[in-house]
Amino acid sequence: MVSTLITGIGELTTNDEPPPADPALVIDGDRIAWIGEAGQAPAADDRVDVEGRAVLPGWVDSHTHLVFAGDRTAEFAARMAGKPYTAGGIAVTVDATRAASDEQLAGVLRRHVAEALAQGTTYLETKTGYGLTVADELRCAEIAAREADEVTFLGAHLVPPGESTEDYVDLVRGPMLDAVAPHVRWADVFCETGAFDEDASRAVLTAAARRGLGLRVHGNQLGYGPGVRLAVELGAASVDHCTYLTRSDVDALAQSDTVATLLPACDLSTRQPLPDARALLDVGATVALASNCNPGSSYTSSMAYCVTTAVLQMRMSVAEAVRAATWGGARALRRENEVGLLRTGARADVHVLDAPSVTHLAYRPGVPLTHAVWRAGRRAR
Ligand code: NIG
Repeated sequence: MVSTLITGIGELTTNDEPPPADPALVIDGDRIAWIGEAGQAPAADDRVDVEGRAVLPGWVDSHTHLVFAGDRTAEFAARMAGKPYTAGGIAVTVDATRAASDEQLAGVLRRHVAEALAQGTTYLETKTGYGLTVADELRCAEIAAREADEVTFLGAHLVPPGESTEDYVDLVRGPMLDAVAPHVRWADVFCETGAFDEDASRAVLTAAARRGLGLRVHGNQLGYGPGVRLAVELGAASVDHCTYLTRSDVDALAQSDTVATLLPACDLSTRQPLPDARALLDVGATVALASNCNPGSSYTSSMAYCVTTAVLQMRMSVAEAVRAATWGGARALRRENEVGLLRTGARADVHVLDAPSVTHLAYRPGVPLTHAVWRAGRRAR
């Protein structure tokens, strides 16, 4: 096992203990082995001087949909010309995904995971949800389990066109769940007008919980609705989107362990308002930021873009946004002692910016600032 001492850190964000004045850290194998004053650093096999750059935990992207095929550029262009986003576009990707080979799907997923890693994303969740038959959801889950850190079953993404909602919900919570459950840790439902209503969402989520899966919910994306309330009631780890929240949704989140995962790139790409992060943070709700990378509503893998948007347009401080995109995502995946923080014993997921402080993520919008990345102790960039 090779150890590496990182010195010359201009600003260290740990999401844990406050760092000393001249901090350094040691990576040993796949773990952080030591953090402390540079002058007291233990010996290591290698030494990397980052010459005054900012060091932070790798991004934790807790919401993506990357098992897909096909292209929806035309739908995006139509949206920019004034057409609204609707859940129905998902069916276009479903057709392309069903027609693709396993190798093609794995190739698309691998390319996006690599693209995200090159920008500092060291831990990534992805979902099924573009198969929507037992066989296609199963192969999407198997492919995802080989390439991503966390996998979520989203058979309840859309009722396939022409099928009855009742029959499809029975399929999802029965044979589809049985087939997919061994390959995933989480189950999710798109609880929204045009997708699944409260009763159908509850039926899928409670069946998944009985199978021992953790719960997540797509909620309150396109309008006010029951998603947040249901997620909190069922003890979901996160409710994702949260674009349209009532006062009682905000209060319910603040009093719960359910993370509010905000997806600002999606809101911009679908011409929705940005979520009220301030209302959530001011009452003590836990907030995560994620990319929602998918070909329909949010085709970006850039967590830095989400952080920039959160600061410039959502009244989050830089510190809040960086924490939400690292520790917040980890908490949304219930991995907050393992990733999303720099602490002795945590996974060595380290992101070095080509800037002296994380403030530059918002101060220099659009500028690629990733200088170096270690993922589980291996230098990835
Ligand atoms: O999170 N909201 C539902 N699912 C995705 C969109 C998927 C698509 O349009 O293909 C989302 O935005």
